[in-house]
Amino acid sequence: MLKDIVKEAGEILKYGYFHKKKVNFKSEIDLVTEYDVKIEKFLKDRLSKIYPDYEIVAEESFKGSSIPKKAIFIDPIDGTTNFVHSIAYVCISIGIYIDSKPVEGIVYNPILNELFWAKKDVGAFLNDERIFVNNSKDLISSLIATGFPYTKIKRGKDYRWVIDTMANLLPFTRDIRRLGSAAIDLSYVACGRFAGFYEVNLKPWDVAAGILLVEEAGGKVTNHLGNEYKFGDIIVASNGIIHKELIDKMASY
Ligand code: IPD
Ligand code: CA
Ligand code: CA
Repeated sequence: MLKDIVKEAGEILKYGYFHKKKVNFKSEIDLVTEYDVKIEKFLKDRLSKIYPDYEIVAEESFKGSSIPKKAIFIDPIDGTTNFVHSIAYVCISIGIYIDSKPVEGIVYNPILNELFWAKKDVGAFLNDERIFVNNSKDLISSLIATGFPYTKIKRGKDYRWVIDTMANLLPFTRDIRRLGSAAIDLSYVACGRFAGFYEVNLKPWDVAAGILLVEEAGGKVTNHLGNEYKFGDIIVASNGIIHKELIDKMASY
């Protein structure tokens, strides 16, 4: 069963979290450890046996250029920078898609012992409890989450958008958090801790599971123009109520 496999993978993550790790660099600031690779390999081996007709799109090994419609998206550690710096916002994220639509998603943080999961038309859950988005009615009563793309060091379009959107938004919110894991940010929208989340330049494995969690918890996911979200777009997720106010404050991209 998917949950049992993810929990087993969580044991590898947990071991790595509390032990010394080898850090390699995908770029000057984009880190990868032997645990990212180990967890990914474990999940690919196990999942390819139970889901033989799905393509696996996993962060550390995916080489394709187009995104398959029937796929399992794996982020072996979302929050690798946190993992390296011993900050507990780390998780394994798995999203299962058929016809480019999510049918199942799991986000598991073994350090905090929180397993978020969702099934299409069944609901979203934290461990055994059903979860729902919160009912914050405006931005000023909303805690919002965001993240910063690795492309920020180039000080290009992504960086400008992050800074301009932050300037537009920050004074109008209760506050903004940057936890360091997009999958956890989306899970926290789903369970009502955050009222909204947005980020530019995320990859499919960062959001594949979290999108379903937010939707099944009664929230809304679009791009920054309010249109249907497609992988690669700026993502905006919310409780639905504040969605328009959040989008209206975003800089143009
Ligand atoms: C990152 C995290 C982070 C987000 C980055 C992602 P990684 O994933 O989700 O919160 O801001 O854009 O790339 O590298 O830890 O798997
Ligand atoms: Ca990630
Ligand atoms: Ca990762």
